[in-house]
Amino acid sequence: MKIFKIFIVVLLFSFSLTINLKADSEKMALGLEVYNNKAMCGTCHILKAAASEGDIGPNLDSLKPLEEQVRAVVTEGLGVMPAFGEEGLLTSEEIDAVSYYVANSSGK
Ligand code: HEC
Repeated sequence: MKIFKIFIVVLLFSFSLTINLKADSEKMALGLEVYNNKAMCGTCHILKAAASEGDIGPNLDSLKPLEEQVRAVVTEGLGVMPAFGEEGLLTSEEIDAVSYYVANSSGK
């Protein structure tokens, strides 16, 4: 009986792990889509993972920004960088995804 309980716990654990991995890859995919197409971050930034080579803003591979830092600048803008959040250019879900994507792919 104990073995059976352990088996169930392991099964549930691996099941939730699979769901988390799926959610993660979906968020990364949406983030890349926003980065490349909807917001075109790559026209101004270098990010090897997205094959972008813009040199108007800082190189994101060397900057390695934290997720919170990306979210702040994408929402509010900075200098010539547009405020994607305040101007309604991106939804909050898209800002979330692109921040997560940049924070987890810069420097790789
Ligand atoms: C029109 C060009 C342009 C576009 C498009 C653009 N950026 Fe920027 N970005 C800049 C410039 C210029 C800076 C530096 C601003 C400064 O320091 O005055 C910057 C700064 C940043 C920073 C650093 C902020 C910090 O804390 O120093 C991050 C991260 C960033 N951009 C991410 C993005 C992402 C993600 C996108 C797409 C959603 C994007 N940028 C789109 C021009 C752009």
